[in-house]
Amino acid sequence: MATSATPGYTPKAEPLAKRKAWLDLQNHYQEVRPQHLKKLFAEDPQRGERMTAEAVGIFLDYSKNRITDRTVQLLIQLAEESGLRSNIDAMFRGEKINFTEKRAVLHVALRAPRGTSILVDGQNVVADVHAVLDKMTEFSNRVRSGAWKGHSGKRIRNIVNIGIGGSDLGPVMAYEALKHYRERDLTFRFVSNVDGTDLAEAARDLDAAETLFIVSSKTFTTLETMTNAHSARAWSVAALGGDEQSVAKHFVAVSTNAAEVTKFGIDTANMFGFWDWVGGRYSMDSAIGLSTMLAIGPDHFRSMLHGFREMDEHFHTAPFAQNLPVLMGLLGIWYTDFFGAQTVAVLPYEQYLKRFPAYLQQLTMESNGKQVTFDGSKVNYATGPIYWGEPGTSGQHSFYQLIHQGTRLIPCDFIAFAQPLNPLGRHHDMLIANVFAQTEALAFGKTPEQVKDEGTPDWLVPHRVFQGNRPSNTILATRLTPEILGKLVALYEHSVFTQGAIWQINSFDQWGVELGKVLAQRIIPEVESRTEPSLGHDSSTNNLIRRYRKLK
Ligand code: F6P
Repeated sequence: MATSATPGYTPKAEPLAKRKAWLDLQNHYQEVRPQHLKKLFAEDPQRGERMTAEAVGIFLDYSKNRITDRTVQLLIQLAEESGLRSNIDAMFRGEKINFTEKRAVLHVALRAPRGTSILVDGQNVVADVHAVLDKMTEFSNRVRSGAWKGHSGKRIRNIVNIGIGGSDLGPVMAYEALKHYRERDLTFRFVSNVDGTDLAEAARDLDAAETLFIVSSKTFTTLETMTNAHSARAWSVAALGGDEQSVAKHFVAVSTNAAEVTKFGIDTANMFGFWDWVGGRYSMDSAIGLSTMLAIGPDHFRSMLHGFREMDEHFHTAPFAQNLPVLMGLLGIWYTDFFGAQTVAVLPYEQYLKRFPAYLQQLTMESNGKQVTFDGSKVNYATGPIYWGEPGTSGQHSFYQLIHQGTRLIPCDFIAFAQPLNPLGRHHDMLIANVFAQTEALAFGKTPEQVKDEGTPDWLVPHRVFQGNRPSNTILATRLTPEILGKLVALYEHSVFTQGAIWQINSFDQWGVELGKVLAQRIIPEVESRTEPSLGHDSSTNNLIRRYRKLK
């Protein structure tokens, strides 16, 4: 149901389905749909060089997409008619574009240079950002040098980050991605699940006297994180002779909620703050990245921030036709809304990026998994696709079969680096040859004639045919560094933004996770109760609760 006036929000564009470019794209789609990439390449030999864009050290080849130059023109026109430019400016200015929560969306301020100014409610937030960065730096240096001692005087050797969602996925992904640059004398663990196994396995072989817990939670009320944090505190205090004073040396917090942090027993001197204008899934470069800084050191962390910043500036200023996040966002819209693609596969050919697809799942799906527009009316087009993926080449021996020969269209993002971080014989050339081979096979396939010419018996031919015409982007950079990681993450952040602006959805709230949380709070006492609770759910839920109570 559309509401006539959403407080604080004035629609800046026509409803999507009425925009001229959208209607033109619908017609244009009918022309492009039957065309094969093989033909598009044959008719246009320069396509592979022309349909590329390069900025801030990232090269994007988008030529193996089912598009023509006209498609790109129309998509850019759609972005313009959608007011993308003014939306981008509004975000960078600190306007409260997360209007359902009345918040600014300023992850870009987390990497703004010292001395610059971005105002939220009249306050320059960049100065606050740098004050926290300085505090993180000082703390990281103390822990890494051994100057920070545990309760019994031993230096810290193990760091356990407790958090979930954006307070876990970013830290885990960055830790894995930047392992090459990490301090090898420190052990890092990440605990997110309320399943006790997560904490039990993480702590099993750790000496509490050498272990520091970072409790990372924007709200400091999240069920999973607080449950794990309390259990970790009990484990730590017990192992350190029952002395509650030990908490001060073994627990620090990353949060926006000083009152809850204090209630938990952590001195706010050991709290690293951030702000309500940083969304959880956009927070890996805030204090939520404390574990990252501890792992790779402040200098590398700052060079990651520099990478983020360079991509921010590119997104903010580059013309749409050369703007990497805009192009990627628009291509996503092309497949989601015109080809009806349901998913996007992200395929990093870099083992260190093994958690990158999982990280992107929250970034993209929590952001754009929405079905009402700014004015509260229901969309009549598809929004955020499902993101998934695994590193290559491992995935090739698992799910690529379906991408090549299944019935679904799955646009793929291949991510590769020219230089390996662990050069080993011929490995890297083989790895990268596989990237190129996969995108080539997906685009061009193999015809029945080609299969027959190989001497394949007729009955087997259909099974060995590759239709081709399966789209992909290839993202190529020189080497995975902290700086490049920042650029890659910002690339996807801003491509999510681009899509949200065009779909006219709020990419920055996440009301869809609330209901389950509320219902769980109701069910917890029912499953824990010593006496038979009276249950008021549906018959399935009631039955499952009774069965669980009997079996537990
Ligand atoms: O799952 C919903 C969510 O609010 C995410 O957006 C967020 O990243 C996660 O929970 C963790 O929240 P917090 O950092 O407040 O513990």
